Amino acid sequence: MIIALNNKCNLSKKEFELYQKELSNIKENDSKLILCPTATYLALYNLSNMELGSQNVSKNNLGAHTGEIAASQLASLNVKYCIVGHSERRNDEHEDLETVNLKVKNLLNNHIIPILCVGETKEEKEKGQTRYLIAEQIKTAIASLTPEEKSKIIVAYEPIWSIGTGLIPTIDDINMVLSLIKEILPMSKTLYGGSANDENIDYLKKCKLIDGYLLGGLSLKPEKLQIFINKAQN
Ligand code: 13P
Repeated sequence: MIIALNNKCNLSKKEFELYQKELSNIKENDSKLILCPTATYLALYNLSNMELGSQNVSKNNLGAHTGEIAASQLASLNVKYCIVGHSERRNDEHEDLETVNLKVKNLLNNHIIPILCVGETKEEKEKGQTRYLIAEQIKTAIASLTPEEKSKIIVAYEPIWSIGTGLIPTIDDINMVLSLIKEILPMSKTLYGGSANDENIDYLKKCKLIDGYLLGGLSLKPEKLQIFINKAQN
């Protein structure tokens, strides 16, 4: 089971140091835990019970790109995973699918595993566009990759209407999307993200295609996170 923690834009430096201390007590059991802190804290990472992930990467390599962080710089900090295509970046920062594709390539060239996020809005879901949109998002993101590169990608299904809202899809809906992802990328691990927590994990576990979870809000609550990890496994 993969459990990735997306801290998003949260915590001061002092709060992060305290949080990291609390995380060091987490028992991962058989799960692979991935911590994706705010970029400013990547260099403070010092945990042995989880691996390090980034929330973003530049579409460019090293050079004159003010404010950007290149994949090779992430690799030099021991970053092993990186979230790409998160809906908050696609919506707030107008990141398009071609940009996501460039980022995926830069990451793979630097031996960092992309965690590619895909998902639809409530309106798109109601119009019956989910399958088409998810397939488009994945196919554009993996354009011109080799089969070996494609096999490394982790895909996280995060319905946009579910992120931070307390709403989760039905098991049938999750199964439909995850089986579509596995049709396109048969070797890929598939995660679910969107309001997953220590209370709805028993329900989500009914979906046998889920290889793991991408947690936002819950990632900031170490005690509840431990309950989630324990429940996710048995
Ligand atoms: P929440 O778990 O807060 O809904 O966030 C999910 C998410 O966006 C993880 O990337």
